[in-house]
Amino acid sequence: MDKIKVAIAGIGNCASSLVQGVEYYKNVDEKSGFVPGILHNIFGGYKIKDIEFVAAFDVDKNKVGKDLSEAIFTIPNCTLKFSKVPNLGIKVERGPLIDGLGENLRGVIPVDTHQEAVNIADVLKKRGTDILINYLPTGSKKASEFYAEHALTAGCGFINGIPESIASDPEWGKRFKNAGLPLAGDDIKSQVGATIVHRTLIDLFIKRGVKIEESYQVNTGGNTDFYNLSEKTRSESKLTCKYAAIQSLIPYKTSVIISPSNYVEFQGDNKICYITLKGRIFGGAPLTIDVKLNVEDSPNSAGVIIDVIRAMKIACDKGISGPLTDICAYYFKNPPEPCSDEDAYRKVKKFIGRS
Ligand SMILES: NC(=O)c1ccc[n+]([C@@H]2O[C@H](COP(=O)([O-])OP(=O)(O)OC[C@H]3O[C@@H](n4cnc5c(N)ncnc54)[C@H](O)[C@@H]3O)[C@@H](O)[C@H]2O)c1
Repeated sequence: MDKIKVAIAGIGNCASSLVQGVEYYKNVDEKSGFVPGILHNIFGGYKIKDIEFVAAFDVDKNKVGKDLSEAIFTIPNCTLKFSKVPNLGIKVERGPLIDGLGENLRGVIPVDTHQEAVNIADVLKKRGTDILINYLPTGSKKASEFYAEHALTAGCGFINGIPESIASDPEWGKRFKNAGLPLAGDDIKSQVGATIVHRTLIDLFIKRGVKIEESYQVNTGGNTDFYNLSEKTRSESKLTCKYAAIQSLIPYKTSVIISPSNYVEFQGDNKICYITLKGRIFGGAPLTIDVKLNVEDSPNSAGVIIDVIRAMKIACDKGISGPLTDICAYYFKNPPEPCSDEDAYRKVKKFIGRS
């Protein structure tokens, strides 16, 4: 199989986990059906080691100019170091700032305003990039659109890992479709994160005939993602995505509350999530489930993106363009066509089989 040439915009904690993960799993036994920690060892014929990073963009002056292998471990990145990464020969290049940083992040991410941004489309094209991943801070609406536009110009697919609406926006969907390029998003659904756990419980209640009366989710963490989200104007799209991911499963109106994320500095990349579900069972008797999830946040996203990258490459190979609706429904919180996780899982299996 060909190499999958991947570029990343935003070399934060999620990018760190992804780059480390490609290194960590590069020597896995290809015949092994189950490899601890990953959803698919081989995905439609593609192995994890087929992923090759060809470009990286950031605005942080402490990351720009460094090899990607070094930039991923540069503060304020704080995620788990689970793999050594050799020099990759890919220097982080300066992207355009636009609305990339809100007030909070401007205080912790140093930007050299005299440094000129590279032409993103030119870099993507020159390196033969198949897919650009958007890992910018939430709230970077204009910057995300800028990178999506440059992916279109360069002729590469676009994965929108963040909640700004791109894949779920029919206009962007049409533009990628017309350009013959695949698109996936929006807002990656973590491997076992708050959304999938919450959805699984909702699904259980519905299938067992429990009337859901109240449902609540709150998340705390101490990485830059949480610091950014603690700023009200930056977190709107995240709350909307998280709410839609839960409410879209419930066939009646009920009280679903997704509380704004709380920034707790000492937690670093550790995320804690509390979910409460209240309902009525037989005879109207009450039932409550309280769950606490405690997980390293960024590897949780990377474990999913590693499948999406391969799905996008399969789409490129097969000439499938526009939003990959089945892939989006399984791997993202706000897909263009939401459905149950069970249905989406079946569709992903079919997608892999079809390729
Ligand atoms: N489990 C998860 O961690 C998870 C799940 C779903 C979605 N997400 C989303 O993924 C995104 C990335 O998360 P993260 O934890 O890596 O964030 P992060 O804060 O660690 O990294 C963001 C990076 O983007 C850079 N940046 C800012 N503006 C830029 C620009 N204009 N061009 C290029 N780079 C720019 C920052 O300097 C930083 O390095 C966030 O929007 C987050 O909400 C994360």
